[in-house]
Amino acid sequence: MTSEKLHDVRLHVNGSVHEVRVPARRLLSDALRHDCGLTGTHVGCEHGVCGACTILVDGAPVRSCLMFAVSAVDAEITTVEGLTEADGSLSPVQQAFSDCHGLQCGFCTPGFLTTITAGLRDNPDPSEDEAREMIAGNLCRCTGYQNIVKSVLRASQIQGGTKGEMQGEIQEERG
Ligand code: FES
Ligand code: FES
Repeated sequence: MTSEKLHDVRLHVNGSVHEVRVPARRLLSDALRHDCGLTGTHVGCEHGVCGACTILVDGAPVRSCLMFAVSAVDAEITTVEGLTEADGSLSPVQQAFSDCHGLQCGFCTPGFLTTITAGLRDNPDPSEDEAREMIAGNLCRCTGYQNIVKSVLRASQIQGGTKGEMQGEIQEERG
């Protein structure tokens, strides 16, 4: 029986280098979780449907279950663990989820946080409809999405957007 060929791959994740030895078929989601120990990236469907495994690759949201680890060698990867600020405080999107109760069981949350982080970079001041559109590709089995939409608007508000202030149910920024 021949053993499977392994590849030495250097992954750049959250500003650190991870040297991993993986078969060519190793999914990036599995490499992040099992080889890099970054279990914040969750795996739900492994078919590109649920969005739980979303990470940022060179700043763009990518389903890590649809990418091989060997394809990511030259990329700058950001997982949910890399979203916190340099001083360890929560990012605006993370703070907004806390403020607006945007998570219940939390399984889908890493994918939402990365997706929304990228979405607000493209559209820093979304309307409620645009906020819904921003998260349309991610599935949450716990909620009706109301608090996640509120979290998008709240994160925009924290970052300096204005439309979140017009939503009556959004909490006022702590002062
Ligand atoms: S686990 Fe990747 S999209 Fe569901
Ligand atoms: S918070 Fe449970 S699946 Fe979304």
